[in-house]
Amino acid sequence: MEPIPFVDLTTEWAALKHETLARVEAVFDHGRFIMGPEIAELEGRLAEMVGVRHAIACASGTTALLMAMMALEIGPGDEVIVPAYTFAAPVECALLLGASPVLVDVEPPSGLVDVDRLEKALTPRTRAIVAVSLYGAPPDFSAINALADAHGIAVIEDAAQSFGGSREGRQSGSLARLGCTSFFPTKVLGGAGDGGAVFTDDDALACCLTEIRDHGQSGKYRHVRTGVNGRMSSITAATLLVRLKTLEAAIGNRRAVADTYDALLSDARNAGRLDFSAPDPCVASARSQYALLAENRDRVATDLRKAGIQTAVHYPEPLHLQPAFSHARRSGPLSGASRMAEKVLCLPIYPGLTASQVTRVAEAVLRSVK
Ligand SMILES: Cc1ncc(COP(=O)(O)O)c(C=O)c1O
Repeated sequence: MEPIPFVDLTTEWAALKHETLARVEAVFDHGRFIMGPEIAELEGRLAEMVGVRHAIACASGTTALLMAMMALEIGPGDEVIVPAYTFAAPVECALLLGASPVLVDVEPPSGLVDVDRLEKALTPRTRAIVAVSLYGAPPDFSAINALADAHGIAVIEDAAQSFGGSREGRQSGSLARLGCTSFFPTKVLGGAGDGGAVFTDDDALACCLTEIRDHGQSGKYRHVRTGVNGRMSSITAATLLVRLKTLEAAIGNRRAVADTYDALLSDARNAGRLDFSAPDPCVASARSQYALLAENRDRVATDLRKAGIQTAVHYPEPLHLQPAFSHARRSGPLSGASRMAEKVLCLPIYPGLTASQVTRVAEAVLRSVK
């Protein structure tokens, strides 16, 4: 049997290779490898797609989160609320700025922050809530923004996994005061290299972010605030501009794969042999991952590996159990995060996956959980 990899970037790029290389060649011709004309072009396209006034391209999704927190002037003494089950980046950024992350539980099987728990996590020191749109699906930002507005705190959407998704007709990235995304190669919009962006409608924040991205400079060698080197390379921007052309089709393919998994696995879900999120009519997920929960997750992963199917666990440990973050304040029990880490298994999902491959994966899962 042909192996089915977890991701297959070479096939995705193959059709775009010629055009991409031509755009990369153009960068060599003009020689502006950093902040060349591709950056402004990309920012214009991203802002238009996300439906915001400003997109600030930067070096990575982590840099985007760091810059967003810096623009909000988060620092020592401040608390930043983060879901206990996500990638480490938002917690790292809060800690790097001397602030204290506060971990809040998530709800299986979506892995999205438990919105009802957010209010209890607030203290007079809370400055921001980072809400993560995990696996491509944004959580309930209407409720999160309403809570934050009532308490005068900021919301940052971590849209690293959800670029191209939407909630209640609004694009992911535009769902909070600041949206941050990643263009890491395996993301829904992945470049040929690290990259990220911050989105906002706030002109003053956008100006701050542009300065922070380039060492806090308002002009050459005029440092008006503390910044970082958060710039994106022109070559990465060039590759993203090509990749953007097929984004809609790529997300359509991802959704078709996810819908097929949903349909083929629904009986097993109804019988309680596995679990996954039911479609939410408010959400159009970007379907960056197809995550299911299985009681005997490791055995399912082994069975699939034996059948030539690669899977992944995003993520095997919740943040409160990571050695680097175990001191972070926990707001209430984090049993949802622990359950996700114990049970979650991500199946292959990418545009080039064929219908017969999807069926093969689903049948292997069904054999394993029967
Ligand atoms: C939810 C989330 N936030 C932040 C990041 C960080 O993005 P980057 O790897 O581009 O720094 C990632 C990347 O995996 C992510 O999944």
